[in-house]
Amino acid sequence: AAAEKGGFPSFMDKEIHDQPHAVADTLLGRTDAHGRLVLDEIRIDESVLRSVDKIVVIACGTAAYAGHVAKYAIEHWCRIPVEVELAHEFRYRDPVVNEQTLVVAVSQSGETMDTLMAVRHAREQGAKVLAIVNTHGSTIPRESDAVLYTHAGPEIAVASTKAFLAQITAAYLLGLYLAQLRGNKFADEVTAILDELRAMPDKIQQVIDRSGRVREIARWMADTQSVLFLGRHVGFPVAMEGALKLKELAYIHAEGFAAGELKHGPIALIEPGQPVFVVVPSPRGRDSLHSKVVSNIQEIRARGARTLVIAEDGDEAVRPYADEVFYVPQAPTLLAPLLAVVPLQVFACELATAKGLDVDQPRNLAKSVTVE
Ligand code: G6P
Repeated sequence: AAAEKGGFPSFMDKEIHDQPHAVADTLLGRTDAHGRLVLDEIRIDESVLRSVDKIVVIACGTAAYAGHVAKYAIEHWCRIPVEVELAHEFRYRDPVVNEQTLVVAVSQSGETMDTLMAVRHAREQGAKVLAIVNTHGSTIPRESDAVLYTHAGPEIAVASTKAFLAQITAAYLLGLYLAQLRGNKFADEVTAILDELRAMPDKIQQVIDRSGRVREIARWMADTQSVLFLGRHVGFPVAMEGALKLKELAYIHAEGFAAGELKHGPIALIEPGQPVFVVVPSPRGRDSLHSKVVSNIQEIRARGARTLVIAEDGDEAVRPYADEVFYVPQAPTLLAPLLAVVPLQVFACELATAKGLDVDQPRNLAKSVTVE
């Protein structure tokens, strides 16, 4: 087993370090000589894909958060409405799906029963189902109309890491492919966005290389009872994923919030010493989201929160209000989740290790839940 872990103390540690490859391999071989996306594996009629008027992503756990991230990108690039729904909720509420709906089932294992049942339900309603799955030969791809595989390699640790990054990457490929196929205004930008995606593995590697400080902080925080996570735009699902990692691995009460929601409730939770991670959008982004999130940091700091900030290189504006800043390389807003989530994964893994817990096999959890 030590050899399988590639010299790392746990599979989770190894899989965090595998992430640059997971993204690079998921991108590999999916373009032609002219830089156009070729996704032959999507064996759904192009005419059907052109007429799709709604996308519904169904998934559970981390895969659902990948879906939430993808919603921002796909709606932006394709102007197709995207709903993201937990698979176990989808099936029991009489969802509106029909021949014009593309259902995207996201699953690392391809065996999650809740997701499989939702796939069956969607197909019964006449929807086409595209699976985004990591495990070849698994059940969900077999029961779907088509499959776009993530190439993250086998994921052993129960808590998902590299599959999450690969799922976002694959869902982005789908979004760009639909934009290309439908010939909208982003069709001409597909090549440029793909180039930016191809630059991400090196940047992810840089985040991993710089993770010494977050590890140190995690070890100091081994006795922490509760951690909050705030994010906005694509940083919101990243915050929820960061909280999920901490619950799963370290058994610490953790919650992710949309930063804009702070004043509508969560700010009541802030008391002196409360640790709060804040995922800050790029200051280079078009809208004023950066300054709004910086104000949020200011507000919670004034109430005594201990602010742990994830910000882009060069963002000096966060410094006055941050107890710690974990800088990540600059990236386009939609691609930033591939970087921002990494310190949160490392934090949960290291804190759980400091508590003496088994990070690969957290209590009560299974890698894939094959019962409803
Ligand atoms: C379980 C695992 C999670 C995973 C979820 C969905 O709950 O513990 O880590 O995110 O299932 O699994 P899937 O294989 O469908 O991605």
